[in-house]
Amino acid sequence: MGPVRLALLLLLLAAAAVVLGPGGGGEAVYIPYNTSAGVVNGKLNVHVVPHTHDDVGWLKTVDQYYVGSNNSIQNACVQNVLDSLVPALLKDENRKFIYVEQAFFQRWWRQQSDMIKDTVKGLVSSGRLEFINGGMCMHDEATVHYIDMIDQTTLGHRFIKEEFGQIPRIGWQIDPFGHSAVQAYLLGAEVGFDALYFFRIDYQDRDTRNGTKELEVVWRGSKTFGSSADIFAGIFPKNYEPPPGEFYFEVDDTSPVVQDDPLLFDYNVEQRVNDFVAAALAQANVTRTNHIMFTMGTDFKYQYAESWFRQMDKLIHYVNKDGRVNALYSTPSIYTDAKFSTNEPWPLKTNDFFPYADNPNAYWTGYFTSRPALKRYVRMMSGYYLAARQLEFFIGRSKSGSTTDSLGDALALAQHHDAVTGTEKQHVANDYAKRLSIGYKKAEELVSTSLGCLSESGSNSRCSSPTTKFVQCPLLNITYCPPSEMNLSQGKSLVVLVYNSLGWKREDVLRIPVMSDSIVVHDSEGREIESQLLPIANASSHLRDRHVKAYLGTSPAASPKFWVAFPASVAPLGFSTYFISIGKRSASISSTSTLNSQGSESRNLQVGQGRLKLQYDAAGALSQYSDSKTQRSKQILSRSTSIT
Ligand SMILES: *[C@@H]1O[C@H](CO)[C@@H](O)[C@H](O)[C@H]1NC(C)=O
Ligand SMILES: *[C@@H]1O[C@H](CO)[C@@H](O)[C@H](O)[C@H]1NC(C)=O
Ligand SMILES: *[C@@H]1O[C@H](CO)[C@@H](O)[C@H](O)[C@H]1NC(C)=O
Ligand SMILES: *[C@@H]1O[C@H](CO)[C@@H](O)[C@H](O)[C@H]1NC(C)=O
Ligand SMILES: *[C@@H]1O[C@H](CO)[C@@H](O)[C@H](O)[C@H]1NC(C)=O
Ligand SMILES: *[C@@H]1O[C@H](CO)[C@@H](O)[C@H](O)[C@H]1NC(C)=O
Ligand SMILES: *[C@@H]1O[C@H](CO)[C@@H](O)[C@H](O)[C@H]1NC(C)=O
Repeated sequence: MGPVRLALLLLLLAAAAVVLGPGGGGEAVYIPYNTSAGVVNGKLNVHVVPHTHDDVGWLKTVDQYYVGSNNSIQNACVQNVLDSLVPALLKDENRKFIYVEQAFFQRWWRQQSDMIKDTVKGLVSSGRLEFINGGMCMHDEATVHYIDMIDQTTLGHRFIKEEFGQIPRIGWQIDPFGHSAVQAYLLGAEVGFDALYFFRIDYQDRDTRNGTKELEVVWRGSKTFGSSADIFAGIFPKNYEPPPGEFYFEVDDTSPVVQDDPLLFDYNVEQRVNDFVAAALAQANVTRTNHIMFTMGTDFKYQYAESWFRQMDKLIHYVNKDGRVNALYSTPSIYTDAKFSTNEPWPLKTNDFFPYADNPNAYWTGYFTSRPALKRYVRMMSGYYLAARQLEFFIGRSKSGSTTDSLGDALALAQHHDAVTGTEKQHVANDYAKRLSIGYKKAEELVSTSLGCLSESGSNSRCSSPTTKFVQCPLLNITYCPPSEMNLSQGKSLVVLVYNSLGWKREDVLRIPVMSDSIVVHDSEGREIESQLLPIANASSHLRDRHVKAYLGTSPAASPKFWVAFPASVAPLGFSTYFISIGKRSASISSTSTLNSQGSESRNLQVGQGRLKLQYDAAGALSQYSDSKTQRSKQILSRSTSIT
């Protein structure tokens, strides 16, 4: 069949060439849509803003969304969006598009040829493709730490700057579940954005603002910085989808397409133009100035970009011919500039847009606490990332060795509004945790090397493989720390190095599991420091063994009997060293185990730093409480005390 099919193909190609050649029938039906409209003063300008909203994980993992696998869960393939976008934008120089999530864009960019990359660079520099928001993800604003928001935004922006020489101008937080003042002033105004757009605010607030034309405001998020950190904030009247009136044009959408070929049945140009104008007038009714924005897209749309652009070309062409309103391809930047140029005074907004309710009794607040384990893990890794980057800087980034890049990427994804929030499926939550764990492993190597280098005194030269090898104990939460669980012999010490990533001095009590009950702790100057042994109860030992087995798949080799606890003091961005060895503690500075029930000294214990004091008797029962301010105190009679 091969040769025969080839021959047919050649014939078809030849036929096509004839039809499309000069003087052929092609031109007769070709309508050049006029999409060149810009802003027209004195008319209602409808800014048609084509966009897609691509979650970097939700019902599927970020990679499943990118490649389009597991479509039985959700029909979504971001690769299709970006692949189909390029030819669609090339087809008409007036078409525009914004792209937001850099985690997806970077996956795609890595796979493109130099030719496509050059083409895309051209589209970006001419403003036909614009990066908006520009972080790796569209981060949550309630359950994230602001440092993580900054880091994930920085990662995305740095890539855009390096590849395209551009800095995103507009914040685009269209899907997160409520909005924080920190976003407005720190990640909006201070990042340098000119405006911030979103839609999820309390439904009653929206209704009110709809009625008073206060959906577009100047948001003053910071009391400290005041007007210097103001930002223009636009809240969409309905959502981030096309306006009411059936303007969805994905391949499988049911909205009526614009049928403008008189040779075919169902010609509907007037009808669709009327729909468009009606939607525009309704939105203009709740918007200040004669500029409104139509957000043309929604979640994972433009998988075949041409199917949207084809309709928008026609709408713009026929709506402008109709002349009641002026429709133009636009971006949030163009829209913002148009708003600024009107000199309209905007209402002022202070504080947060939290909590978010989209209906009566429908408060999106459960996510503040859902998936607490993932939330804790993200926060722990975030602190570790901060310390690891400092240590990476101290020894200098090496090209060959380990870096913090992988942890940085994993943390960036974890800030997504369906990641640390806990609103994703279980398998997706697992995916985020897996990425964090892989990132941690790489950063852990770097931290060990760096601390080894820093602790080896006198080595000024580049250090990449120190002789000192430090081991870290990330599973101290389940009392698992193999290096401290060795049987220390006479004359050998366990060296504990404590690093402080904060900009101020830190004093804290450290707890390290040990095997022996005769333990003594010294600081780096050889001074013995106060320490205390806390017995590990049998019950928690069993629990620990179960946890270790579940976590590592094997039973732990040793079973520590005690925690040794001692106060550590560490300078800002510095480290302190402690030595744990076998020995007898000096009576003067070591406290006896208070948990020893046979304790000979039966003493009372008072707790409470402020005005309220609680007094416990030798048996550990609360015996008295007193309030120094009200001068009130009350004796508590324990059960054994006879009342007379
Ligand atoms: C296309 O439309 C613009 C304004 O919308 C107009 O200025 C221009 O003359 C039109 N071009 C053609 C070829 O009709
Ligand atoms: C699809 O998702 C399910 C979880 O719902 C997962 O178990 C399965 O491995 C996924 N399939 C692929 C091909 O990733
Ligand atoms: C605009 O608002 C007014 C007052 O609420 C209302 O009477 C009118 O019908 C609205 N027009 C459109 C096009 O929605
Ligand atoms: C706001 O007003 C627009 C235009 O009148 C309307 O379509 C929309 O439903 C209103 N939204 C709310 C939440 O009231
Ligand atoms: C201990 O920490 C690890 C890693 O942070 C975590 O995966 C594990 O769930 C924690 N275990 C317990 C019992 O909290
Ligand atoms: C430590 O000593 C105990 C008792 O002397 C012994 O049972 C255990 O196997 C030793 N552990 C190691 C890791 O050597
Ligand atoms: C703790 O466990 C050990 C060994 O399993 C046992 O011999 C001992 O009696 C237990 N102690 C208590 C207080 O249960």
